Amino acid sequence: FMIKSSLIEPDGGVLVDLVVPENQRDSKVLEAKSLPNVKLTKVDFEWVHVICEGWASPLKGFMRENEYLQSLHFNSLRLNDGSFVNMSLPIVLSIDDETKERIGSSSNVGLIGPNGDYVGILRSIEIYKHNKEERIARTWGTTAPGLPYVEEAIASSGNWLIGGDLEVLKPIKYNDGLDNYRLSPKQLREEFDRRKADAVFAFQLRNPVHNGHALLMNDTRQRLLDMGYKNPILLLHPLGDGVLDPETTIVAIFPSPMHYAGPTEVQWHAKARINAGANFYIVGRDPAGMGHPTEKRDLYDPDHGKKVLSMAPGLEKLNILPFRVAAYDTKVNKMAFFDPSRSQDFLFISGTKMRSYAKSGENPPDGFMCPSGWKVLVNYYESLQTE
Ligand code: ADX
Repeated sequence: FMIKSSLIEPDGGVLVDLVVPENQRDSKVLEAKSLPNVKLTKVDFEWVHVICEGWASPLKGFMRENEYLQSLHFNSLRLNDGSFVNMSLPIVLSIDDETKERIGSSSNVGLIGPNGDYVGILRSIEIYKHNKEERIARTWGTTAPGLPYVEEAIASSGNWLIGGDLEVLKPIKYNDGLDNYRLSPKQLREEFDRRKADAVFAFQLRNPVHNGHALLMNDTRQRLLDMGYKNPILLLHPLGDGVLDPETTIVAIFPSPMHYAGPTEVQWHAKARINAGANFYIVGRDPAGMGHPTEKRDLYDPDHGKKVLSMAPGLEKLNILPFRVAAYDTKVNKMAFFDPSRSQDFLFISGTKMRSYAKSGENPPDGFMCPSGWKVLVNYYESLQTE
């Protein structure tokens, strides 16, 4: 018999899974080949991965115009029953004039991945204008030149967006040695159930884990135990050696491309983890933030990420755990919560600074990161230099 899972429900109630059954694969590949095609960039391909595994549930494909507008203007999507789910980033596919012309009046298109293989079919398509300036301004709150995702994925993209229902021909793999860490929301939910988790708390990060991050995570576990949970499991979405307990931690890769869109993006990071079964979400200083591309200041207020997350439409069922900024306390030689009454004792080491230390071979102060983790980081940067 099946034990009913006590995990948080996915947005929309049912986890989206858009990979076609194996026995239909051959015929669908043939069909894809017969259709006008759209060639995907690397970033488009990553979004196909995100959508097909249900990270964006209940979204079932690249956004059509009505979904795009809701996402852009309301940071959410309205469901048929009138309720809302959070959806702060437009998940869209752009095409150029020539591709639009080629598609003509076809209602379905085949999708070709960056390596030339057919990866999926987009059905009942809708093509609409891609107003890049408006999309960029609303997503980032600025059109200043130098935003990484804009430069990589939007600036030279086509003038049209194509939305529709997605079907993916086979599970997405990158064959880079890391596929084992790319657990889908379904696989994560199965693992949380297997471990009999009664709370799941997610920690999103792009930087290597330092002891300040570990402080937030370990403190959260303690808070949850204090609240009465018996077996809170951490979903750590990426290094750390011994500073976290493997019995109560699952390390996996979140396959989403990164926007660096601050408070707008952090909602996406949180929403996607609901679909992976997390009911608690840790947020600290300046999530998904970056320096202003042309001025010497942060692009976003470092506190706005957690404030916005606590109020975001569609995220009411997710428990947000906001944290004060952690910094290196020179009095005890470890990462601790910043105490403004003795600010002169604290050293702020940002992710960017940490990476520049590792690049230049300079050591961070003792207690900042576990030594084995630091070695991995230094070796990584050395390997880049010898390539
Ligand atoms: S990101 O994905 O949110 O951009 P980043 O690695 O910068 O990743 O941060 C991961 C998480 O740790 C975010 O929730 C962020 O707010 C939090 N965080 C990072 N550094 C600190 C810090 N020094 N003090 C408190 N929280 C922090």
